[in-house]
Amino acid sequence: MLKPGGAVIFGGSRGIGRAIAFNLAEKGYTVAVVSRNGDQCLAAAAELPKAGTHIGLACDLSKPDEIQASCADIEKRLDQPIHVLVNSAGVVRDGVTPRIQLPDIHAQVNTNLIGPMITCKHFSTVMMKQRYGCIINIGSVIGSMGNSGQSVYSASKAGLVGFTKSVAKELVRYGIRANLIEPGFIHTDMTQGLSEQQKERIQAGIPLNRFGLSQEVADAALFLVESSYTTGQVFKVDGGLSLQF
Ligand SMILES: NC(=O)c1ccc[n+]([C@@H]2O[C@H](COP(=O)([O-])OP(=O)(O)OC[C@H]3O[C@@H](n4cnc5c(N)ncnc54)[C@H](OP(=O)(O)O)[C@@H]3O)[C@@H](O)[C@H]2O)c1
Repeated sequence: MLKPGGAVIFGGSRGIGRAIAFNLAEKGYTVAVVSRNGDQCLAAAAELPKAGTHIGLACDLSKPDEIQASCADIEKRLDQPIHVLVNSAGVVRDGVTPRIQLPDIHAQVNTNLIGPMITCKHFSTVMMKQRYGCIINIGSVIGSMGNSGQSVYSASKAGLVGFTKSVAKELVRYGIRANLIEPGFIHTDMTQGLSEQQKERIQAGIPLNRFGLSQEVADAALFLVESSYTTGQVFKVDGGLSLQF
């Protein structure tokens, strides 16, 4: 097993990405915490185990033109082999298809799908030279199940399935693994806005009868980082929600 190197976590400032950052820092990875809010990333990096070694910086994944430069900057600042890339940044903008606004379509497709494509493009090149790397993209069960009022979100996450499987096939010969996690409903800022009534209705449809925790998704991510014989997989952490379909 290699000594842990760098880990880049887009969406590492809050929620699921932050829990993944914590798990990896605890295992000895040097983490780059990235989101739109640079101050929040710095604060999150400072709270990780072995604080002082990690970095925090701003990058807006909805702006394709800025991502390449940010990736190059992260690579330079981490200044060590980058072993892990996690794409956890994501946004949801609910709206039924006939009424959804164009900016909401662009925000979701750019952040959830095109952004991760560009970060994978950049860091897979880095990983190919090292002949080692682990990519984890965070999709959603909604990507495979669909959901009324979330057609664009669902499409952006479904796109990540084909993308991740293809990346896994392309890069396996370079020692790079790529997997996708599909969380169900998880207690984070993203689900904070649901009304109590909505939460009760959703929970009733979850076989484990509760929302999940960021830590439970982060533990799956750590498993994927450490399981050297797993690639191209879609790993559901959804309390059994997808069993209902
Ligand atoms: N929570 C759930 O129930 C659930 C279920 C299924 C899938 N997911 C997926 O899991 C991932 C993490 O979600 P979460 O629940 O942890 O959400 P969250 O608590 O809202 O965190 C989202 C993270 O993404 C970052 N982010 C958002 N837009 C960004 C942008 N344009 N550029 C860079 N960073 C951006 C946020 O930081 P800034 O705001 O500072 O940019 C934050 O760090 C997402 O991909 C989400 O779709 C979540």
